Amino acid sequence: MKKNFLIWDLPLRLFHWSFAASIMLLWLTSELGTDYIDWHLKLGYFVLTLVSFRLVWGFVGPQHARFFSFFPTPRKVISYLKNKDQVYAGHNPVGSLMVFAMLLLVLVQGVSGLFVDDEVFTSGPYFNSAGAEIDSLMRTLHFNTFDFILAAIALHIAAIAFYKIIKKQNLTKAMVTGQKSSQGLKESDEIPHSKLFVAFIVAILACAFIYWLVVINPPPLEEFYY
Ligand code: HEM
Ligand code: HEM
Repeated sequence: MKKNFLIWDLPLRLFHWSFAASIMLLWLTSELGTDYIDWHLKLGYFVLTLVSFRLVWGFVGPQHARFFSFFPTPRKVISYLKNKDQVYAGHNPVGSLMVFAMLLLVLVQGVSGLFVDDEVFTSGPYFNSAGAEIDSLMRTLHFNTFDFILAAIALHIAAIAFYKIIKKQNLTKAMVTGQKSSQGLKESDEIPHSKLFVAFIVAILACAFIYWLVVINPPPLEEFYY
């Protein structure tokens, strides 16, 4: 049997590291003030594209990228908590709860951003288009969800450090190279390849969808300054 198995496909790894970097930059650009708000919006659209890609990849990607393969049913979570030494090729059931939580929180943050404004010159493409109540709800969501995202990231990184220090498993290396030691795994746990062609098509569809969402579909801007 081979020493290492390919577990995380390349598109999923590219998704992960661009997602992580963009979230940090979105935080930075929101703190730096109005000069950086254009970058904030562009990065926000990029993250919405990444999440759209990931949502589709969760159905058509290779085995360990698929939501059904790591969906955290109560039975799976209890079985993991009873025996934490079980080896998982993909996300373990508690980790997968976190994966769903992070994707959902970032989706809420990104979608709500489309409806907010910075009270200076810049606003999301749907600001003022859905009524004052929706705008106010979206504003509350956009200005509060990020605290939960930060808490989730802190737990995420703490869990990965726990695996590294206490359980001596380097999950980060696997998220970089895609490979995990085959010890304790079955031959069928290895994915044959990264499905790059399918990923390319899904990426184009995700870009087209976000282009439609933020450029084509929004109502025209009201002109206040002539
Ligand atoms: C230094 C920072 C980070 C490291 C070392 C890291 C590492 C990892 C690792 C090793 C996994 C796979 C976990 C497993 O084996 O089950 C993972 C998954 C994941 N991480 Fe991170 N991560 C970092 C930052 C972030 C940030 C900032 C986010 C943004 C919210 C994030 C979101 C995710 C998501 C959504 C997954 C699931 C991947 C998928 O199936 O799509 N990570 N991360
Ligand atoms: C998932 C991606 C996004 C993240 C992580 C994010 C994060 C943030 C954070 C942390 C803030 C500061 C909130 C506060 O001060 O409490 C903020 C403000 C803001 N965001 Fe986002 N955002 C994202 C996407 C978007 C999008 C797509 C848009 C618009 C199209 C947008 C527009 C704005 C605006 C206009 C502000 C107000 C800035 C100000 O008043 O200074 N954001 N965002």
